[in-house]
Amino acid sequence: MFKAIKANLFWLILVGALAAYLSFALIGGAEHEFMPGQTTHGHHQIEMACSVCHTTGMGVKQDSCNECHQEELTRVDDSHPVIKFKDPRNASRLEQLDARYCITCHREHQPEITNSMGVTLPEDYCYYCHQEIGDERPSHKDFAFDSCATAGCHNFHDNSALYERFLASHLDEPDFKEVAKQRLRSYYDNPDHTKGDALEHADADMPDDAQHTHRILHDWSTTAHAAVGVNCTDCHNVKDTETGAITWQDRPGYTSCQECHKHETKGFLEGKHGMRLAQGLSPMTPSMAKIPMRAEAAHSELTCASCHDSHRFNTKTAAVDACLQCHNDDHSTAYKESPHFKLFIDAQRGLKSSDEAVSCATCHMPRVEKTEFGETITIVDHNQNNSLRPNDKMIRSSCIQCHGLQFTLNALADRDLIDRNFKGKPSVFVESLELAREEKERTEAAKK
Ligand code: HEC
Ligand code: HEC
Ligand code: HEC
Ligand code: HEC
Ligand code: HEC
Ligand code: HEC
Ligand code: HEC
Ligand code: HEC
Ligand code: HEC
Ligand code: HEC
Repeated sequence: MFKAIKANLFWLILVGALAAYLSFALIGGAEHEFMPGQTTHGHHQIEMACSVCHTTGMGVKQDSCNECHQEELTRVDDSHPVIKFKDPRNASRLEQLDARYCITCHREHQPEITNSMGVTLPEDYCYYCHQEIGDERPSHKDFAFDSCATAGCHNFHDNSALYERFLASHLDEPDFKEVAKQRLRSYYDNPDHTKGDALEHADADMPDDAQHTHRILHDWSTTAHAAVGVNCTDCHNVKDTETGAITWQDRPGYTSCQECHKHETKGFLEGKHGMRLAQGLSPMTPSMAKIPMRAEAAHSELTCASCHDSHRFNTKTAAVDACLQCHNDDHSTAYKESPHFKLFIDAQRGLKSSDEAVSCATCHMPRVEKTEFGETITIVDHNQNNSLRPNDKMIRSSCIQCHGLQFTLNALADRDLIDRNFKGKPSVFVESLELAREEKERTEAAKK
């Protein structure tokens, strides 16, 4: 009896000590030791913040996935939302693959089974639920199940540029549209966002002891902010969250821009450039990146000023030169050889209008429409991942403003062409438009 208590006590102490060590280690920053394996490309930046996905008992919170991703999936009209699988009519399909849970298809810490976009399923997984497609659609009879999502035809979630009606309305378009222009930005046409009268050198309101160079005064007074009455202290006076005291800060962070530029800040925090800041972690730097970066930039911290400079805020510099200070993969460095870059240079020289130019930002930070104050406005999407993968997300936000859909689909399915940053013609042919045409003809014939 006594012996049993002693043994139990021994275990109790051992377990207690282990638990104390574990929680100490987790709080103390030794989390890596307990992580079963690397996280996916999408999450590596925030992997140390275990609790964003895990409960204290180390279970995975399904809600956590939704909190960060539901809005984007809803916006693109997810073709397979969870709600579809709560419908009893679809229950039989869940026996093979329980699509009510994100982690059925997106597991973590398992690099050996992880494919692009954090998918941890074999490529032919559509088969589990759509075995009968060959019978329903004669055109699909000979297709392999691992081709549904790899041939530029379908995605699991975002089919906003691939659904049949969209395809059928873009048949027979020329490769290059006659009017090839991107949308114009319109945000600042809204008078609610203008502060006041234009300011000059003499109006600058920095405190006497603030270091300021002539360059700062010049840059500020000749650009957008001074022109609409935004003064030094509008950015540099920072309020202490605890005491409420307002003090001048030499290097204000993104929070100083937030109030006036809420859309841009939101996008920035949701994408790869700002996602660490969104979790209260240190800013992202190229040294932590998984993709090739320039060595000189290894330790530059990502904030708004990384692309915008601190006082000039030149959006053209931000759209190409800023990116190339950091990015150094084949695709990025090839851009300056592309016909798109030539358009960008021509616009700088005044030979073309700026809306005809194609910069890195035209594809990765496109101008998108939003409704605000009851009006449709066009703003720059600061979350580059909204248009990155699957890459047909770029079709609607960018390419089809200037190119026909067939040309665009072909170009985006051609990996070599992407690596050359779209220098040359596509060498791949995506069949979906032809299928949409046949289907349209078939239904029209059936109606007659
Ligand atoms: C982006 C979300 C995310 C982050 C961040 C994250 N994990 Fe995970 N973790 C998961 C998912 C999803 C699983 C897989 C569950 C499954 O396969 O059933 C998992 C599984 C695990 C498991 C295996 C437990 C089990 O149920 O099989 C452990 C242990 C674990 N994580 C530890 C960590 C630690 C420690 C950290 C922080 C250093 C961390 N994780 C960060 C999402 C995350
Ligand atoms: C704290 C917010 C957060 C949580 C929690 C979170 N994610 Fe993410 N996730 C991100 C961000 C930020 C990215 C990178 C930007 C992007 O792709 O939109 C990302 C990327 C992804 C990607 C795309 C990867 C790629 O390479 O394109 C998938 C898939 C994904 N998350 C699924 C999940 C699932 C499933 C869960 C729940 C286990 C989850 N996420 C939890 C923020 C989060
Ligand atoms: C049946 C499998 C499956 C389930 C369940 C699933 N996904 Fe996905 N997910 C995929 C596949 C496959 C992709 C790759 C791109 C595609 O085909 O849409 C993907 C891509 C993504 C992406 C990146 C691309 C994009 O379109 O934004 C995000 C983010 C994502 N999933 C989040 C989620 C979240 C959050 C859940 C849970 C609500 C979830 N997924 C449930 C299969 C699944
Ligand atoms: C877990 C089961 C499941 C998986 C896996 C699955 N689907 Fe579905 N899919 C459904 C259900 C349920 C519906 C809605 C009912 C229907 O139309 O049959 C649907 C509908 C569709 C539709 C009609 C689209 C629409 O917007 O109405 C298409 C196209 C489609 N799926 C393609 C795919 C492709 C391609 C894959 C693989 C990338 C896939 N599905 C994987 C269950 C699944
Ligand atoms: C639109 C916002 C904004 C306005 C207006 C602004 N600044 Fe700044 N300033 C910044 C940001 C952001 C940084 C930090 C840049 C960084 O982190 O690299 C900065 C940095 C500085 C620095 C420190 C380092 C340096 O040399 O770049 C000084 C000094 C400064 N500003 C002075 C001024 C003065 C004087 C004015 C008014 C004439 C002014 N700023 C107007 C945003 C602003
Ligand atoms: C007090 C409000 C306010 C603050 C704070 C502020 N801005 Fe602005 N910003 C504006 C207004 C108003 C404009 C519009 C100018 C126009 O209509 O051309 C503007 C314009 C811009 C532009 C576009 C310039 C162009 O040439 O088109 C950029 C980029 C910008 N701001 C970035 C920032 C960044 C980064 C910060 C933080 C360091 C910041 N702003 C802080 C009000 C503000
Ligand atoms: C990765 C580079 C990058 C970062 C980081 C970045 N921007 Fe931008 N931003 C751009 C580019 C490029 C444009 C112009 C694109 C265009 O003209 O189509 C732009 C445009 C803007 C504009 C002009 C108007 C509009 O329509 O949206 C504002 C305001 C702005 N940025 C604010 C910010 C703020 C605030 C932050 C930080 C929260 C920030 N930016 C971070 C690259 C960046
Ligand atoms: C200060 C350095 C810096 C600047 C400037 C910068 N980036 Fe990035 N970018 C990064 C880092 C770091 C990452 C994260 C890479 C990772 O998580 O592995 C990233 C991620 C990305 C991604 C996502 C890549 C992926 O595979 O998920 C894209 C796309 C991107 N940047 C485009 C741009 C564009 C376009 C510009 C200019 C408008 C730009 N970046 C400016 C450093 C920078
Ligand atoms: C005409 C459109 C277009 C232009 C211009 C463009 N890109 Fe891309 N970019 C793409 C596409 C498409 C992908 C591939 C997405 C996928 O399928 O993975 C991509 C991928 C990327 C990636 C991710 C690479 C990786 O390995 O994960 C980065 C980073 C990037 N681009 C940066 C840039 C930079 C920097 C510039 C300008 C110097 C630029 N891009 C110009 C369309 C473009
Ligand atoms: C603002 C308009 C515009 C946008 C947006 C745009 N392009 Fe282009 N693109 C052009 C023009 C104009 C040319 C021809 C330039 C020339 O030949 O001088 C071109 C050339 C090309 C070429 C090279 C053709 C050749 O013969 O060498 C490819 C490939 C291409 N674009 C693909 C894309 C893709 C894919 C996207 C979207 C990710 C895209 N473009 C977005 C206007 C645009």
